[in-house]
Amino acid sequence: MKITVVGAGAVGATCADNIARKELAEELILLDIKEGFAEGKAIDMMQTAALLGFDTKIKGVTNDYSQTAGSEVVVITSGLPRKPGMTREELIGINAGIVKEVTENILHHSPDTIIIVVSNPMDTMNYLTFKTSGLDKNRILGMGGALDSSRFKYYLSLELGCSPSDLNAVVIGGHGDTTMIPLIRHATWNSIPVTELLSKAQQDKVVAATMVGGATLTGLIGTSAWYAPGAGTAAMVESIVRDEKKLISSGVYLDGEYDQKDISLVVPVILGKNGAEKILDFKLTDEEQAAFSKSADAVRSMNNVLADMKLL
Ligand code: LAC
Repeated sequence: MKITVVGAGAVGATCADNIARKELAEELILLDIKEGFAEGKAIDMMQTAALLGFDTKIKGVTNDYSQTAGSEVVVITSGLPRKPGMTREELIGINAGIVKEVTENILHHSPDTIIIVVSNPMDTMNYLTFKTSGLDKNRILGMGGALDSSRFKYYLSLELGCSPSDLNAVVIGGHGDTTMIPLIRHATWNSIPVTELLSKAQQDKVVAATMVGGATLTGLIGTSAWYAPGAGTAAMVESIVRDEKKLISSGVYLDGEYDQKDISLVVPVILGKNGAEKILDFKLTDEEQAAFSKSADAVRSMNNVLADMKLL
């Protein structure tokens, strides 16, 4: 198994670190545009191999896509992260051109790979990657729901005083401060609905905190978060390369599911060796469906910018 992570910044490097620790690949290529940067991070990670006991060979390269040839999964983290006060959407002008170019370079050497897009604004970058690639929709996935669902569980665990890993909770919609939809109705603590355990005020607090989870961290750290985004991406990679068929909220191109077409949004997806093997298209309440449609409208207007930029 060969995996490539494009972008050796904080998210890309953390993702690579998680992939290596879990030994999800024999060979892991870390690629960055900045001279020596990926090489340095790869060597630093390789110097943890004897301490952590993993056998994945991590190799850093500067913009040399020939080294990525034959990758079965590619993670794209390229582009700028958010600064405090910035929305993910404000990054489109810089990141769209970068993500399109990276996609073309990757496909030149790995024409049949599975791509996971992390770059922001993720829903629009995933749509752009799907359109640019010409690959089947199951091979192009966006990372957002894995992260946002884990943040949702974290905030629920604070209110419930419980272990985050005892919780089941899912976020759908977009990966944006106002477009994500934490489905509190379906959240459970070892199968007990959290709506029976938390007051309405507590539920509202958890949902609101989840939605601005990324922005809260950007305000505290001064740039985008990386531990949870990196781990969220690696969880998706793991389900694909181990063919686990886990149900993980992921960005995927919709073709009628949830009443949406020609758009990429986050929905529950079964991830296995073929990428997005099945979209779970379950019935939302009228209120949830209205929120989903509103998120779709916001993401669609962002997608229209791609045409204005002559990228589609
Ligand atoms: C975040 C970035 C990765 O939510 O979008 O932290």
